[in-house]
Amino acid sequence: MSYVYGDGTEALKGIDLTVAPGEFIAVIGENGSGKSTLVKHFNGLLKPGRGKVLLDGKSTKGQEVARLARTCGMLGQNPNNQLVADTTGEEIEATLEALEIPEESRARLTDGVLQLLELEPFLDDDPRDLSCGERERVALASVLVYEPRLLVLDEPTRGVDQETKNRLAGYLAEYHFRGNAVVLVTHDLEFAASCCERVILMGDGRILADGDKHRVLSESLFFTTQFNKTFREAAPGVVTGEEAARALEALR
Ligand SMILES: Nc1ncnc2c1ncn2[C@@H]1O[C@H](COP(=O)(O)OP(=O)(O)O)[C@@H](O)[C@H]1O
Ligand SMILES: [Mg+2]
Repeated sequence: MSYVYGDGTEALKGIDLTVAPGEFIAVIGENGSGKSTLVKHFNGLLKPGRGKVLLDGKSTKGQEVARLARTCGMLGQNPNNQLVADTTGEEIEATLEALEIPEESRARLTDGVLQLLELEPFLDDDPRDLSCGERERVALASVLVYEPRLLVLDEPTRGVDQETKNRLAGYLAEYHFRGNAVVLVTHDLEFAASCCERVILMGDGRILADGDKHRVLSESLFFTTQFNKTFREAAPGVVTGEEAARALEALR
């Protein structure tokens, strides 16, 4: 598929991509390479110019975002903008309401996500009064709560400290473990390498590389991790610290 913005910017060109159930994918690439435009097609926020996007085998054309969002939950680049309610509890309830999740499963889903994201203490707080990290957790909760089978996060680690990152990695691992697919748009290659299995590298509206993270990251001199750059001669294909340690141990 391809996509051209109203001002003539060709943001996506000749994209051919399949995301399978249960995958954990990082989408990487320079600013302006089309990452956000690409993922906005997954839940129908944007509809392709040429070609088509199928979600669950059905074209997104003519389907409403509110409908598609049940399968593909998305946290955009500015999650704060996604917050609409006066309390954390109402925020989560608003999502369940908007997506017409059956009343009888709401309490179970809400309790689950509050526990996972450690948000119980903030249930009655106004999200606007919370810290930045807490607010992002509320935004994440309002997506995770209804358990979309495909979760898309657009740059969730921007300006986030290491501890929050580690926790986010934990939540995502748990979410993925339960059989859901996760697509992470990120500049943070160390984070991508530690969480994901498959990496899609974008450049100038195209997919430049797509495959197992070890292969894609090893092929690039620039889009790779510090561990890969440091150890690529001694231990080719290594992308994380753990892998480097194991490979070096084996070399002894
Ligand atoms: N609303 C818009 N109108 C016009 N051009 C846009 C719009 N949003 C993004 N673009 C352009 O589309 C291209 C891809 O942008 P984007 O998908 O945001 O890239 P990325 O997320 O990789 O930084 C860029 O050239 C960007 O300037
Ligand atoms: Mg972007």
